[in-house]
Amino acid sequence: MYKSFYKTGIAEIPFGGDRLNKVLLELLDKNIKKGYEFKSKYTQSFDLRPDVINYDPVFVNVLKEFSIPDVIKKHTLKDMSLFHVQVRIVKNENSYMDWHRDTYYNQKGELIGKSPHGVKIIYYPQFKDGEKDRLLYLLGSNRIIFPNNAYDNQLFNILAVKKVKTSNKKAILFDINGLHAVCPEKNKDTSIRLIYSFLSPQQIVDDHSNDMLHMSTMKMYESI
Ligand SMILES: [Fe+2]
Repeated sequence: MYKSFYKTGIAEIPFGGDRLNKVLLELLDKNIKKGYEFKSKYTQSFDLRPDVINYDPVFVNVLKEFSIPDVIKKHTLKDMSLFHVQVRIVKNENSYMDWHRDTYYNQKGELIGKSPHGVKIIYYPQFKDGEKDRLLYLLGSNRIIFPNNAYDNQLFNILAVKKVKTSNKKAILFDINGLHAVCPEKNKDTSIRLIYSFLSPQQIVDDHSNDMLHMSTMKMYESI
């Protein structure tokens, strides 16, 4: 498992369930519990606030049901903890996030994102409207890092792209150092995804010890 994950930077893992889909579909339909709302983070993208883990127990239970701590360890061989959970709605036909790495150095040598980088799990449920394209990932780009991101365009000439589609049986676990892009919505559709972000426990404490939500998310995860 870890050899394949190292090679490509991405794995499909068992995930999902009727209860989870029911809650996500209600959110997509704007049937939202009192005290919660969707707020815009990027253009055409809206995150459930103020939090996800207290919105419904299913967002924690699904981590237990699919033994996510074990799954992450088997793929990465690293000790990772959870610090952020997001339910995100994306609108519009234009991609809100073109090709990027979540962690990189820009042309001035400045760090963007978390160092060292972590991993994410994203679940893209499939509802009645059928299978849809959701994310593109450049296989192996997680292992090829230039001093800054100016050379990344060359990688599209040599590496293959994996297209991630909606599924009710699996999620993706991926190395956020690899190049990835969000698939544009077609026909002015609106879509929903559930995102779990992982880092080492040390980094979470160093960077987020004054953020109650991140710390309680980690505590919850450590007790699974
Ligand atoms: Fe990203």
